Amino acid sequence: MVSDRDIDHAVAVLRAGGLVAFPTETVYGLGADAANPQAVRKIFEAKGRPATHPVIVHLADAAQLANWAREIPPAAQRLAKQFWPGPLTLILRRTSTVSDLVTGGQETVALRVPSHPVAQQLLARFGGGIAAPSANRHGRISATTADHVHREFGPTVECVLDGGEAQVGIESAIVDLSGGSPALLRPGSITAAEIEAVLGVSLAAPAGDAPRAPRAPGTLAAHYAPQTPLMLTEGDLALELAVSLVRQGKRVAVLAFSAQRPVLQGLEWIAAPQGAAGYAHELYASLRRLDELRCDTILVEKPPQTPAWAAINDRLARAATGSSVLDET
Ligand code: TXA
Ligand code: MG
Repeated sequence: MVSDRDIDHAVAVLRAGGLVAFPTETVYGLGADAANPQAVRKIFEAKGRPATHPVIVHLADAAQLANWAREIPPAAQRLAKQFWPGPLTLILRRTSTVSDLVTGGQETVALRVPSHPVAQQLLARFGGGIAAPSANRHGRISATTADHVHREFGPTVECVLDGGEAQVGIESAIVDLSGGSPALLRPGSITAAEIEAVLGVSLAAPAGDAPRAPRAPGTLAAHYAPQTPLMLTEGDLALELAVSLVRQGKRVAVLAFSAQRPVLQGLEWIAAPQGAAGYAHELYASLRRLDELRCDTILVEKPPQTPAWAAINDRLARAATGSSVLDET
């Protein structure tokens, strides 16, 4: 899907200060040369993202950590050894050369070594760090295919590397190692228990949404939201509510987990995979498909509320925030 020439072209675009969208194993990233503030600025313009929101710097390997982080605690080495390349982001204290645009003016920097082979090739050939938030417009659903990226940005992003469907499907877990005790800022496919097993200590929860909001905007309530009002409901209720809304003349889209599809006109239906990994892989593509149907409501049947599903439940809760199906205004 991606040839050597495509990678060469993408590297040339990065070196010239342009934007390159590229696949990672979690979601697609919208990348720029992290050492070029003018280039990083273009990411914020394309996304419509406030300039105070920091972005993740992607590296080819952990050996490059020292260029970006000035204190690398043993805990960071251990997590990097265990989970990199892979869907884990570490927050560390930055070196003085890291641009304020990358860090949002903070003393810390977010670093990640992705495992997707296209990301790996791009990073290895580029040589430096690639600053990249998820390749979606600010506050919207992250892109898990190249087609999603094109739909989000159109021709504003000149180079999009198509590496197929992102395998994990939801964003990396973020662990903050810059302060006293390690904290999980964003849950991901690598569970808190797996991270704690490597650290040998419990992870602190983020200090609450309000104080964290400027630091980790992925934790802002309105993130990952489709345009159609989205409601999260328990199993039986999802079906009941869907039927009742359809009877009121509404068009309803359902992301079902265990509910069986009733025979009913005006109802759109996707049956989600039963395992957490499969569910995460399909989640954003399913939400996009349901959103594009422009129904009155998206009803999502809650999946299991167990630790293995924590990252999925986190994203679903954020997608639902601020939208109310019963609000007619
Ligand atoms: O899986 C992922 O992490 C994807 C792929 C492309 O790598 N990237 C991603 O980037 O999700 P983004 O920008 O959508 O989310 C990164 C999150 C944001 O919530 C941001 O606030 C937080 O990381 N972040 C970045 N730098 C930070 C820092 N220095 N301190 C605290 N949070 C930080
Ligand atoms: Mg994002």
